[in-house]
Amino acid sequence: MTHKIIIDTDPGIDDAMAILFAFGAADIEVLGLTTVFGNVSAERATLNALTLSQWAGRPVPVAKGANTPLMMEPRKHADYVHGQDGFGNIGWPEAACERDVRSAPHFIVDTVNANPGEVTLVALGPLTNLALALELDPDIASKVKEVVLMGGAVHETGNVSPVAEANLINDPHAGDAVFGADWPVTMIGLDVTHQVLLKSGVLERIEAANPEQGGFLNKAAQHYFGFYREAMGIDGCYFHDAATIAYVLDPSLFGCRHGAIRVATDGLAIGQTMMAPEGRSFPTEGWENRPLVKVAVEVDDVRVLSLFERTLSAQ
Ligand code: RIB
Ligand code: CA
Repeated sequence: MTHKIIIDTDPGIDDAMAILFAFGAADIEVLGLTTVFGNVSAERATLNALTLSQWAGRPVPVAKGANTPLMMEPRKHADYVHGQDGFGNIGWPEAACERDVRSAPHFIVDTVNANPGEVTLVALGPLTNLALALELDPDIASKVKEVVLMGGAVHETGNVSPVAEANLINDPHAGDAVFGADWPVTMIGLDVTHQVLLKSGVLERIEAANPEQGGFLNKAAQHYFGFYREAMGIDGCYFHDAATIAYVLDPSLFGCRHGAIRVATDGLAIGQTMMAPEGRSFPTEGWENRPLVKVAVEVDDVRVLSLFERTLSAQ
C-alpha cells in the first residue's frame, strides 16, 4: 500500500534523516513538504526543505509556514543543536528553486481536500501549521487519514525542560489544539525516541552503500553527535523525527497506549504533554470531551534502525 504523506518540518538534522528516509521508501509518496520555525527560522527551514528535495531528485512542492507560535513570543532557535544553517554548518550547497506560492496551512488544506481520506500528516516540528490549517478549514479533520507527530512525552522526562519536549514547548497552544481535534493522532514522543539510539556506525554504513545521501547525513550529523556528547554524555543521537516514518511504514514496530492528551500552556510546566489514560475518569476539569490519542510507549529499536539503514542504503 502506498502512503500519501505531507511532511511538516523544521529541518534540522534529524528532520533531514526523516525526509530522506521517506523519499527512499517505496511505499511512501511524499505529496509535499511544509515548513515551520523551530530548529531554525521558517525561512531557513524552507530553503533547507527545497535543498533536500531538489538534491535528492524529488522536486516536491515546498510551502513555507509559520515563523512564530500562535500565541506567545518565540523561543530561541535550536542552532546549538543543529547548527546555524540547520544542517550542522557543513556548508552544504543551497538550492536555487522556488517554493510553492501557497502558505503551508493552505497547502495542507488544499491537498487534504483533493485526497480525502488518503493523506497522512507527518509533523516533525512545532504544530503551528497544523493548528492553522484546522482554523482555516475545520472539515479537514474528518478527511485526514492520520496525523503522526514527533513530539511530547508522557512517561519520559522532557528534553528542553524536565517535562517538556522541544516541539511542544515551541508552540504549546498549537499542540493542545492538534491533540484536541477530532482526527486520528499518533504521538511518537520521547517515550519511544529515547529508546532508539542512532550510533555513527549506522550512518557510516549508509554512506558506504549510498555515498551521496549517506555522506551528507554523516557529515551533518557530526554537529548533532557533538551536542549529544557534550550535553548528555551520549555516544550517538536519539532517533526522533525519522521514527515517525518508521511508524508510517510499519506500525507493528511500536507498542501504543490510548488516552486524552493536554498540553500545559503556561507556568513552569509549559509544553508538558499530560495523558489521561483511556477508561480513567478524573474529578478535575479539562479532560472531558477530548479525543483519544494513540501514544507510542514501546518500540523495537533494532528493527526501526534496520529499516532506516536498509531503506537509505538501497538508494
Ligand atoms: O525533541 C526533538 C524534536 O525537536 C525533533 O523534531 C527535532 O528536530 C527538534 O525539532
Ligand atoms: Ca524537527
